[in-house]
Amino acid sequence: MSSKKYYVTTPIYYVNDAPHIGSSYTTLAADIIARYYRDKLGKNNVFFLTGTDEHGQKIAEVAKKNNQTPLEFVDSIVPKFKEAWKLLNIDFDYFIRTTDPRHEKVASALLQKLYDKGYIYLGAYEGPYCIGCERYYKESELLNNRCPLHPDKEISHQREKNYFFKLKEVVEDYVLPKIKNKEYKILPEIRENEILSRVEEGVDDISISREGVTWGIPLPWDKTQTCYVWVEALMNYYSATLFLEGRQHFWPADLHLMAKDILWFHAVIWEALLIAADIDLPKTVFAHGFFTINGQKMSKSLGNVITPQELVNKYGIDGARYLLISAVAFGTDGDISLESFDQKYNADLANGLGNLVSRVAKMAEKSEFQFSSKDTKIYDEVHSAISEYRFDTALKFIWDKITLVDQAINKDEPWKLEGQKLKERLQYYLEEIAEIALNLKPFLPQTVEKIDKVFASPVIRMQEPLFPRLK
Ligand code: MSP
Repeated sequence: MSSKKYYVTTPIYYVNDAPHIGSSYTTLAADIIARYYRDKLGKNNVFFLTGTDEHGQKIAEVAKKNNQTPLEFVDSIVPKFKEAWKLLNIDFDYFIRTTDPRHEKVASALLQKLYDKGYIYLGAYEGPYCIGCERYYKESELLNNRCPLHPDKEISHQREKNYFFKLKEVVEDYVLPKIKNKEYKILPEIRENEILSRVEEGVDDISISREGVTWGIPLPWDKTQTCYVWVEALMNYYSATLFLEGRQHFWPADLHLMAKDILWFHAVIWEALLIAADIDLPKTVFAHGFFTINGQKMSKSLGNVITPQELVNKYGIDGARYLLISAVAFGTDGDISLESFDQKYNADLANGLGNLVSRVAKMAEKSEFQFSSKDTKIYDEVHSAISEYRFDTALKFIWDKITLVDQAINKDEPWKLEGQKLKERLQYYLEEIAEIALNLKPFLPQTVEKIDKVFASPVIRMQEPLFPRLK
């Protein structure tokens, strides 16, 4: 059963921010993987989960600023995420919200289990807290007394009675050996090395509850405290498989996707919680890189946030999908600019794929050629690239095929041919295009549908261009 199913997740995003190209990037990558495995394993054997992280101090404060209750606020933001994913043609199977009482119930039962097994104890915590990250820092981790990820936010010093999870013990006894034995994978390898060296430096127990935060899940054995938002957020991946009907067998997850900013939580803390609760571990945790925009961090205050809507308005749905996923090698950091997107759109989509399809369709239309397709298959290189999360490699391979067909056309000069010879060449171009289309399906689903429609009809007729040139 286990090799016959695939379960992929994205982080559940904080609702204090609207969806932007960072969250779109991860969600799109998960969509491509889910579409690929649906074709390979069958639709019902894939589960793609995304959602929103809705508890915690940060969300409560933003709600207050908007004169709303936290629930009113989160309810008003969630549709924005769903709309953004729809806009990008992201076909998730379920959208989980941590305010869903069914999630709260599972999280609460898991917490109780950890408590009953002796992994949780009462202590006191004192230290710098960054509300942007919703986590405590060590003094030594701060830069100029500021959070390295949120230098614009004040660090608050907090002291409170907290419950702690015995992270140190579980990591030393179980997590570290399991990473070393590759019982679950942390990818790319460079990230695994970073995690390993951080674990080897030694970890402290973590506080898993908050005294002053009411917007959260109460601890079942001490209702004066709520669960630390990160702990119950991680549990979403497991809780969805339990509270949704018929999804139990999807656990353990095959792939947790995220950027490197939150890898520690996913590659160490989550595993420790699962081990302590006797639950199977996810198979792979993959952290991709971080985007900058024209060399700068993307931020509201710099006003350089790019929204999925902007991309879709300019490049169309599949244009946006292609530009995002091919922007950088998956796993590495990279810089994005709309100028480079324009260039790439024209080169690869308007000229490359779009032009190939329209020139062949025009020739076929003119000579009233009828195409009977042969069997197409996913290229071996694309199979292996996608199963290793090398989307850019898969696309590069497909684009090389596009170039080869273009070159063949230039060499053949089919406009000078007629009769059987012309038919043979058209048959060849169309077979190649059909195969290219099949390989592009997880990446550009709508474009592939359009291509299939052009060539599958008894009389081939080119419709409007797939990717109109940018003005
Ligand atoms: N709520 C937590 C996650 C809990 S998961 C159990 C959280 N949310 S977040 O809204 O801040 O999302 C972080 C994630 O958004 C990153 O890990 C990444 O997937 C995506 N990205 C946000 N900005 C990004 C870039 N600039 N570049 C690439 N990905 C980015 O953390």
